[in-house]
Amino acid sequence: MWGGRFGSKPDPLMEEINASIDFDRHLYRQDIAASKAHAAMLAKTGIITAQDAKRIAHGLDTILSEIETGKFKFKRALEDIHMNVESRLDELIGSAAGRLHTARSRNDQVATDFRLWVRDAIDRIDAALAAYQRALAQKALTHAATVMPGFTHLQAAQPVTFGHHLLAYVEMAARDRGRFADARARLNESPLGAAALAGTSFPIDRSMTAKALGFTRPMANSLDAVADRDFVLETLAASAIAAVHLSRFAEEIVIWSSSRVGLLHLSDAFTTGSSIMPQKRNPDAAELVRARSGRIVGALTSLLMVMKGLPLAYQKDMQEDKEGTIDALGALALSISAMTGMVRDMKPEVARMKAAAGEGFATATDLADWLTRMLNMPFREAHRVTGKIVAKASAAGVSLDKLPLETMQAIEPRITKAVFNVLTVDASVKSRAVYGGAAPKNVRAQAQAWLKKLKT
Ligand code: ARG
Repeated sequence: MWGGRFGSKPDPLMEEINASIDFDRHLYRQDIAASKAHAAMLAKTGIITAQDAKRIAHGLDTILSEIETGKFKFKRALEDIHMNVESRLDELIGSAAGRLHTARSRNDQVATDFRLWVRDAIDRIDAALAAYQRALAQKALTHAATVMPGFTHLQAAQPVTFGHHLLAYVEMAARDRGRFADARARLNESPLGAAALAGTSFPIDRSMTAKALGFTRPMANSLDAVADRDFVLETLAASAIAAVHLSRFAEEIVIWSSSRVGLLHLSDAFTTGSSIMPQKRNPDAAELVRARSGRIVGALTSLLMVMKGLPLAYQKDMQEDKEGTIDALGALALSISAMTGMVRDMKPEVARMKAAAGEGFATATDLADWLTRMLNMPFREAHRVTGKIVAKASAAGVSLDKLPLETMQAIEPRITKAVFNVLTVDASVKSRAVYGGAAPKNVRAQAQAWLKKLKT
């Protein structure tokens, strides 16, 4: 493969450790597109003839269809996708194939291919996240007034609504999409023309290939162009954060759908049975989403370690950028879609949610707020008085809205029966009308605003 310099074949172990075709074959479409752009530019600048460029383009189209129809034979001996394609091109069109690699190196080639591949992956993930947001916002609209416990420390804290909870994930997904968009904008420059590391002596037109491949401009420094993988790191960092967001919701789904908790019903489509226990319905999809975040975070840490301390410019270490990334971005896209499916199908157990929302004296803050507002008590004092009332209710084994007025008045004589207006869970959520709060009216408006925004 390396022409004149080598006298004997590589050791099989050399071949095995060196080959990347098992995973960089995923880059075939980007590799062919970049080669076509390069060949067209070589012809336009008069570096190769128009006829050779035409043969090359034709041959590359043939290879594309061979790969897509499964007819292409990938060879490990040819190391990677670039050499596999070029060698097949030689078989198909003969000597013109040898002109394609003029003014190019696999170093700028792989950097270009991978930028294109990551860019496509970002676009797929963005579309998946948008669909996920739509499913969440739709369900939030349906359940804008479905009261459930809001939790801190996994204890019922204050009543919120199921819709409000779902919209929290819509916001997180929006920031995730923002991070991917930022990464995409920064990665969208073309390394092509940097060649091995120093640029080329041929009068190529880097702007032409950049434009043909949808890049905004050629990268300004040839060493940087072939030596950095920060675009992968940034995308993996955005992926890791997105995956961590998904894993938190996945965990809630697992907890809420357990028969012990019973706040959520998952559809049969997103649960599995047990081979021994006929009664079981396991939330496997949610568990796997929760687990896959590990692989995604792992891909980020692993590439950070690969890149750390690497001198400029290209080092073969960087070939290790693909396997984990391709796996991680695939895992993320699938996780998002699985979560979208679960969200569409999930049904809150409305009655249990409401009952649970009132457990643990969850309207105690409403009582303290009432004392502050109606009796002009400093909030700290209202907090103390409420604590005493909660202790009474706890001892009597009743919720705050069932505690007799006299019992409350024994602690604070100025309390009137009007207090009962704020002690139910419905009254509590309704009162959270501040911007960003849990009031059903807010939730409905926000869900509608999201659905409108997500249409475009
Ligand atoms: N398969 C290689 C990679 O993914 C392509 C670049 C090879 N360059 C080199 N100088 N050996 O990194």
